[in-house]
Amino acid sequence: MQWYEIRGGHRLDGTVSVHGAKNSVLPILCATLLNSGVSVIHNCPRLSDVEASVAILRHLGCQVDWEGDTVCVDATVVQRSDVPEHLMREMRSSVIFLGAILARTGEAVVSMPGGCELGPRPIDLHLAALERLGAEVAVQGGNLLCRGGRSLRGTEISLSLPSVGATENALLCACGAEGTTILQNAAREPEIVDLVRFLRSLGADIRGEGTSTLRIEGNHPLHSGEHTVIGDRIVAATYLSAAASAGGEVYLTGVDPEQLTTVTALLRDAGAEVRREPGAVWMRCEGLPHSVGPVRTSPYPGFPTDAQPVLMAALCRSRGTTMIVETMFENRYRHVDELRRMGADILVVNRVALITGVERLHGAPVEAHDLRGGGALAVAALGAEGVTQLSGLHHIRRGYASLPEDLRALGAEIRWRQGETTEGA
Ligand code: UD1
Repeated sequence: MQWYEIRGGHRLDGTVSVHGAKNSVLPILCATLLNSGVSVIHNCPRLSDVEASVAILRHLGCQVDWEGDTVCVDATVVQRSDVPEHLMREMRSSVIFLGAILARTGEAVVSMPGGCELGPRPIDLHLAALERLGAEVAVQGGNLLCRGGRSLRGTEISLSLPSVGATENALLCACGAEGTTILQNAAREPEIVDLVRFLRSLGADIRGEGTSTLRIEGNHPLHSGEHTVIGDRIVAATYLSAAASAGGEVYLTGVDPEQLTTVTALLRDAGAEVRREPGAVWMRCEGLPHSVGPVRTSPYPGFPTDAQPVLMAALCRSRGTTMIVETMFENRYRHVDELRRMGADILVVNRVALITGVERLHGAPVEAHDLRGGGALAVAALGAEGVTQLSGLHHIRRGYASLPEDLRALGAEIRWRQGETTEGA
């Protein structure tokens, strides 16, 4: 068993450069399949989900090389149309390969993605969008079969909710369809904007990124291209929450503060001083944070569901009571029981969590059950007295490429350990 040993109670001071965004790089790696040439992608974080995407690309026949944080995908030859089950299971977002493989090879076979730690995550909107574009979708023996990729036709698609994944799948598939696709109620997340900019670097004709309507001129000839992935706004939100939890003064570079406004506005309400600069954000937080007004997670530009756990962790030590309403995923409070083990006072009723701030948290053996829940436990541990043993690191490595290194650079005491925790877990 592996865990992080975190000795809390140190202020966090210093500068950290935030790595590239997981939720950008994953669909961008899928999109490299559309171009039968070379895609050079800079600022690629070395995450286990990224390694899984690279394994899928290699399985399909692409040549993929790393040089530092640059990944080079040569998709000149794509020999297969399937994603093996073990890679599908490793990473739920591998479902985004569906639209890209279909557009590139004419058919795609993937195993049905299971539910995940955040509760059931249906893909009905993904499949309906592909069908609207002319794909035939069938389920056979637990596999999802998509055919008809050679006769895809641009059309109007209206998503019933602005799903990030369905927007990406529809967008990638529409790039391979004949004619114009108008995608209504599309997700507006910065990672969608980044994906469109990457596709444009390959020569794709797409307009409207960052708005609810995307217009895609399909079957545009694509060529080799180069792109730099945006900084990870959720990693940035985690480090800001860590500084609110432990107190301190941090300067984060490599991230666009405009993509963090809902998070920094709440941290300001909690008493932090925040300064936004082009490509960087500075924050100082002294003393216990205050409670903040009700927080509702919602699609961008609303408060991100991925930042909910880390903000909650920062507010466990605070003055007053904060209400959080999680509207996006039904099973996104799995970190709460673990936070309670550290002395947090949190009441959960369905999708509502009431966090009554306490003055002190104490270290405890805790386990991450999902990625951002793991980030939240690290945030709480940094503000707690004594030692926390944080296990479940495979979840954390899906989205944080350098959590202990970055936190140590800010003065935190965090070490990687292997063996048995004191709990004998
Ligand atoms: C992406 C992000 C994830 C983030 C989420 C919401 C990636 C790799 N992951 O996940 O980190 O938390 O956006 O910002 O980018 N839904 C349906 N049917 C569908 C698709 C979605 O009902 O076919 C529902 C989901 O159950 C959920 C909501 O739509 O309640 C939003 O999900 P979606 O935006 O699709 O999230 P993901 O793309 O899975």
